[in-house]
Amino acid sequence: MSSPQSVDFVFFGGTGDLAMRKLLPALYHLHRKGDLADGGRVIGVAREALSRDEYVARVREQCSKRIAAAQFRDDVFDAFARRLDYVRLDAGQPDDFKALATVLDTAGAEVRIFYLSTAPDLFAPICGNLAQASVVQPNSRVVLEKPIGRDIASARTTNDCVGRSFTEGQIFRIDHYLGKEPVQNLMALRFGNVLFEPLWNRTWVRDVQLTIAEQVGVERRGRFYDHVGAVRDMVQSHLLQLLCIIAMEPPATIAPDAVRDEKVKVLRALDPLHGTELGARTVRGQYRAGVIDGKPVVGYLDEPDIPADSHTETFIAIKAEINNWRWSGVPFYLRTGKRMPERTAEIVVNFRAVPHSIFPEALGTLQGNRMEIELQPEESLKLYLTAKRPGEDMHLGPVHLNLDFGEQFTTAPMDAYERLLMDVVRGQLTLFLRRDEVDAAWQWVEPILRGWEAEGSRPKPYTAGTWGPAASSVLLGRDGSAWQEES
Ligand code: BG6
Repeated sequence: MSSPQSVDFVFFGGTGDLAMRKLLPALYHLHRKGDLADGGRVIGVAREALSRDEYVARVREQCSKRIAAAQFRDDVFDAFARRLDYVRLDAGQPDDFKALATVLDTAGAEVRIFYLSTAPDLFAPICGNLAQASVVQPNSRVVLEKPIGRDIASARTTNDCVGRSFTEGQIFRIDHYLGKEPVQNLMALRFGNVLFEPLWNRTWVRDVQLTIAEQVGVERRGRFYDHVGAVRDMVQSHLLQLLCIIAMEPPATIAPDAVRDEKVKVLRALDPLHGTELGARTVRGQYRAGVIDGKPVVGYLDEPDIPADSHTETFIAIKAEINNWRWSGVPFYLRTGKRMPERTAEIVVNFRAVPHSIFPEALGTLQGNRMEIELQPEESLKLYLTAKRPGEDMHLGPVHLNLDFGEQFTTAPMDAYERLLMDVVRGQLTLFLRRDEVDAAWQWVEPILRGWEAEGSRPKPYTAGTWGPAASSVLLGRDGSAWQEES
C-alpha cells in the first residue's frame, strides 16, 4: 500500500553505519516498489562536509553492495537519487539547523520524518534545535533508535527533552525486532489460535528460553559498543520485547495502546535482580580469540577501539522470572552474545512432563513437549511430541511437526526496516515503544548494571565460536534444564 502523502525523511547520522547498511537500502526498496508518494525527499544529515553529489555517490556505492543484484538497477537508483539531498550540520549548533529549515521549506512535503540514528545523548539537543528552527509541524514525526539513554535517569531526561518538541503520538521509539515478520507471527500464533492459550501458563510450561546469537563481533562499532555492552544493546530492548510478546496477556485489540498496555505490565512484573540474586541468576562473558566457520577471529580486547582493560560484556545469560499469576515460578532464560557458533534467534517453550506415565520405562523415556520457534535465519515452528515408533513393540520416542514458513508461503517476508518506516509514514504506533515501556525496561535492567559495577568483577572469558562461558550451562543445569542445543 503506497503512502498517499508526500514525505521528507531526514536522517541524522546520515553517513553512519545504520543509515548506510539498513535505512537507505530499505528506502530504495520502498521507492522501487512504488510505496513512496512522488515529491518526497531523503535528506542525509551529518557533520562531515560533503556535497550532494558526494553523498549520492556514497549511498549508491553502499546500496549496490547491500542490495541483491537482481533488485539493484542503475535506472531505479537514478530515480531514487533524485530524492536524495545532504545537509552538513553539527547537532549541537542551533545555527546549523537554519540550513536544514531552508532545504525543508523549499519543497514542502506533507509529512516530515526526523530519524535519529545517532548516539542517544544527541537526541535531546537535536529535538530542541529542530523545534527552535521551527521545522517541527503537527504532521512531523521523530524516530528514536535504541538504546534510549544508558540508565533510567538519562532515558527520562531524553524522553522529557524530546517530549518538549514532539507529542507522544509523534514519537516512534524503534526496536527493529518488532518489525521482523516472525515476531509478528508470534502474535498471530498466540492470538490467532485456540490451541496454545490453555497451555500458556505456569501449570503447563516448565521454562522458556530466548536466544539471540550472532556470529559477528563488534565490527567497526567498537567505540559505541564498548560504552554500551550486550545488556544495553540487546537485552534492554530486543530480548525484553520478545519476552513481552511471549508472556503478555491477550490485548483487547491490536490498537497501539491496547498492545503496549499489556507489554508494560509484563515489564513491571519482572522479578528485580539485585544482591545475591544477581550472581546466582546472571552470567556475563567477553569473547577471546577463536574460530568461526573455520576462520580465526581476534578476541574482544584486540578489536579496534577497545581499551585493553575493558569490562564490557559481549555475552549475557539471565534467568528472569515474572511475578504474576500466569507465570509465577516459570524461569525465562534470556541469552545473547557476539561471536557465537551460529547466527540465530530462537524461542523455545518447554512444557512439563505428563503428570503420570502409563508406560514402563523400558519402552522409552517420556520427554516433555517442546515448541521451538526459529525467528532467524530461517522462520519455522517445530512442535515435539511423543509418538510410538513403527514396529511390533510399543516403543516411544520424540517426533516433531515442522512448519516451515518459507515453504508454506511464496511471498518473500518484508524487511523489518521497510515495514517500520512505512508504519512511521502512516502514523501507526503499534510496533513502537511507548515512553513507559522504555522506563519499565530500564527499571529492571539498571540494577543489573549497577550491581556489576559495585562488585567490580570482570566478565568471564569465552572462546569465540562457542556458546558462551560454561557458567551459562550451569545456570540452567541447576534447575535440571539445558539450553536447547545441549538437550
Ligand atoms: C542491533 C544491535 O540493535 O541489533 C547490534 O545494536 C546487533 O549490535 C543487531 O548486531 C542485531 O540485529 P539482527 O536484525 O541482525 O538480528
